[in-house]
Amino acid sequence: MSESLGADRDKPIADAYAIPLEKIDVSNPELFRANAIWPYFERLRREDPVHYCKESEYGSFWSVTKYKDIMHVDTNHGIYSSEATLGGVALRNQEEGFFLPMFIMMDPPKHDAQRKVVSPIVAPGNLAKLESTIRERAGKILDSLPINETFDWVDRVSIELTTQMLATLFDFPWEERRKLTRWSDVATAGTAFGDEEAEKARRNELRDCAAYFTELWNQRVNATEPGNDLITMLAQGEATKNMGPMEYLGNILLLIVGGNDTTRNSITGGLLALNENPVQYKKLRDNPALVESMVPEIIRWQTPLSHMRRTALQDTELGGKQIKKGDKVVMWYVSGNRDEEAIENANSFIIDRKHPRQHLSFGFGIHRCVGNRLAEMQLRVVWEEILKRWPDKPIEVVGEPTRVFSNLIKGYSSMPVRIPG
Ligand code: HEM
Repeated sequence: MSESLGADRDKPIADAYAIPLEKIDVSNPELFRANAIWPYFERLRREDPVHYCKESEYGSFWSVTKYKDIMHVDTNHGIYSSEATLGGVALRNQEEGFFLPMFIMMDPPKHDAQRKVVSPIVAPGNLAKLESTIRERAGKILDSLPINETFDWVDRVSIELTTQMLATLFDFPWEERRKLTRWSDVATAGTAFGDEEAEKARRNELRDCAAYFTELWNQRVNATEPGNDLITMLAQGEATKNMGPMEYLGNILLLIVGGNDTTRNSITGGLLALNENPVQYKKLRDNPALVESMVPEIIRWQTPLSHMRRTALQDTELGGKQIKKGDKVVMWYVSGNRDEEAIENANSFIIDRKHPRQHLSFGFGIHRCVGNRLAEMQLRVVWEEILKRWPDKPIEVVGEPTRVFSNLIKGYSSMPVRIPG
């Protein structure tokens, strides 16, 4: 097989063990789209856990592939920075000329102050309130599904449910909620390098998003009886009320993408994992209480964000390698979550694990996902409602899912399923 070290779609993929170690480039999105990434990470974990890739579409970068090293980077924000001005938190640097500050790409103290503004959205009291709304809406979506007919699970269930939840969190005009889905897709779409037309169109759509949300800000900024939604929180929060328009757009996009693609792809990935592991699906139908431990297992198995990146603020050592100030350091959560030295039977999907929350999918340290409990609750509710409706019959995945061409968002754009009558 010929080598495919570039980022070309549908190019044949090289055998991970046949190419020289120094030529391995796990940033190639085709490896993720083709679901061919696993032997690459397996080899890196075994032979070169902190691996230097000298040349890639994204320049040179370090890959951190083992659980304990990822933890080390994620919890040492004084050495490994998230700052947008240094490039941000993804392999691809923040775009010059269209710079979007957001608190996931800030270091303390500004990060901490802005994070605090939106944290009440996931306070236990608010989560409890949201749960009944989500249950009712999930029920309606499931009740509308066709029986004995093939349909797309991603569109009919995963997207619809997460979009409804986002609309609720923002108190967004209900009938227009699919705009949120669109903006989330646009925000994460990596246009091809050098494709200026596509990039211009993308920026124009994001400007529409900014205009729409500015209108909502203006309606809520002086509300005397403030609502409990994310826009009001940002408009009235001490650390956020004086943000400029780009910073507002940045934080809005963070909350849209954070709460959208990740949960959406876990809803799809969970059903796929159960279909690929019918013994686990049977175990679940026999004992629906296992939903509780299955949910974190789905999130580990799916790892909806494959990586987060940091930039070294000083020379340092990691796994015996010398990292230089300014180097790009990529934490591959997707690999750490399959690290057999840290997680027992890491390469098996087991819905009743002893320590199901021991995974890296939400990150660790000061940037650990704000929405983690909300995401878990949403997945739990969906599965409880599915099992109530179809206690004996598994929902069948009837064709190959289409995976996203991305090294960051690990997910699906479609998955054909059938509910047996
Ligand atoms: C941060 C994953 C759902 C909002 C993060 C990070 C990850 C992550 C990996 C970065 C952690 C780090 O750098 O250490 C996920 C996954 C989800 C999910 C896997 C679903 C299964 C949500 C939801 C929301 C949300 C529902 C709600 C709106 C955020 C925000 C941040 C964040 C605001 C930035 C936190 C900070 O920088 O302090 N998430 N997320 N996420 N997530 Fe999530």
